[in-house]
Amino acid sequence: MKKSIVLLAAGLTTGSLLLSGCSRDYTPAADASGEDIFKGACMECHEPIEGKENIYYELSSDELNINFFSKKVTSGSLLMPKFPNITADKLTAVSQYALDHAIKK
Ligand code: HEC
Repeated sequence: MKKSIVLLAAGLTTGSLLLSGCSRDYTPAADASGEDIFKGACMECHEPIEGKENIYYELSSDELNINFFSKKVTSGSLLMPKFPNITADKLTAVSQYALDHAIKK
């Protein structure tokens, strides 16, 4: 009985973490390039596509634009955290870097 309550609690915690779309406090250094930010903030989850060196995304043509990337970084999603401290020119830099390392599906 006790055990099932603990399991239920663990399940709820995991569920709400995913649903709330967590947030990362990663803050780029003042002189960080798009590549620096990508390595520091994104590569932990985004690995190169198998067999393709330095390509991290395979997207449809309507997604292959900088707005799609910057929106993802700013807003996150169910499974991806948002990055409120990547803003302005840093947001542009990391989005452009990621876009430059994406190919069409
Ligand atoms: C904690 C893991 C994690 C981190 C860190 C992370 N992402 Fe994601 N990202 C995901 C997951 C999981 C998805 C797929 C689900 C989705 O689309 O929401 C995703 C999807 C995306 C997509 C949509 C395209 C696709 O492949 O589905 C883009 C673009 C993206 N991430 C860019 C970034 C960038 C840029 C950063 C760094 C600023 C970053 N991500 C950091 C987990 C992460």
